[in-house]
Amino acid sequence: MKTSDLKFFGDGNHKVILGDAVVALNTIEDNSVDLIFADPPYNIGKNFNGYKDKWNKDEDYLNWCYKWLDLCIKKLKPNGSFYVMTSTQFMPFYDIYLRDKIKILSRIAWYYDSSGVQAKKYYGSLYEPILFCVKDEDHYTFNAKNILVEAKTGAKRRLIDYRKNPPQVYSSEKVPGNVWEFSRVRYRMDEYEEHPTQKPIALLERIIKASSNKNDLVLDPFSGTFTTSFVAKQLGRRSIGIELQEDYIKIGLRRLEIQKEYNGSKLAKEPRSFEKQTCTQQKELALFNQ
Ligand SMILES: C[S@@+](CC[C@H](N)C(=O)[O-])C[C@H]1O[C@@H](n2cnc3c(N)ncnc32)[C@H](O)[C@@H]1O
Repeated sequence: MKTSDLKFFGDGNHKVILGDAVVALNTIEDNSVDLIFADPPYNIGKNFNGYKDKWNKDEDYLNWCYKWLDLCIKKLKPNGSFYVMTSTQFMPFYDIYLRDKIKILSRIAWYYDSSGVQAKKYYGSLYEPILFCVKDEDHYTFNAKNILVEAKTGAKRRLIDYRKNPPQVYSSEKVPGNVWEFSRVRYRMDEYEEHPTQKPIALLERIIKASSNKNDLVLDPFSGTFTTSFVAKQLGRRSIGIELQEDYIKIGLRRLEIQKEYNGSKLAKEPRSFEKQTCTQQKELALFNQ
């Protein structure tokens, strides 16, 4: 793919780019992005709208990843932050590759209490790893007070610290640790879109609130359903979202309210089975009441 094959949508505040991440990243100014969240294909065989997430050799997958990882670092401002995900099996390679180029501050496990496959003969995977990296460990945004969570010792058990003078109740809030529990996006949730690996709004809210400020520029090179750009918009940040698949671009254009139509067709969310059922039931009820 060439730069001229890319398609651009949106305005100065929220840009959507249809095309390959490596090609699109090259069109972005160096040192210009405040926060990058990258959630690439994991090389585990997911089906992204007919495109199989599986490289012939692990080495090929990693060499491709190293290309866009380098580009992300290049595009990040000197005080910028970079969050990156991949599967548990490939994260060690990312970690080793990145630690010479950028400062890894946290190794986060996004934990959820349900897996796609219920393993019976081994321990099923209930987490996905996330690296939180910064370019300059002395200068970066971290809005700790905007992401506080309940500290159980103080909030629930109301324990008192008698080592303090005078004794004090333990604090009821704290900065989250590196195990984050958020439910995966399930079919019945309002935020659900037709995509195999959609990330939850709550996960992106924590990241964007902590690591950016109002009007900052947030970039997601593998946008999928555009959760990152959607949350960035809700929180008053600017965004750039890149995605290879046209069908997912349509989700982004709708979620970001950039366009109401695409190639003459309305950009509407497909009703889910239980919503369709409700419509039918409503029609039946209307007939019954006539
Ligand atoms: C793990 S998903 C991202 C999900 C996203 N975080 C969300 O919340 O919906 C990875 C996405 O990368 C897209 N993708 C795969 N190869 C790509 C490439 N070379 N350039 C841009 N996007 C690509 C896939 O179509 C898929 O939607």
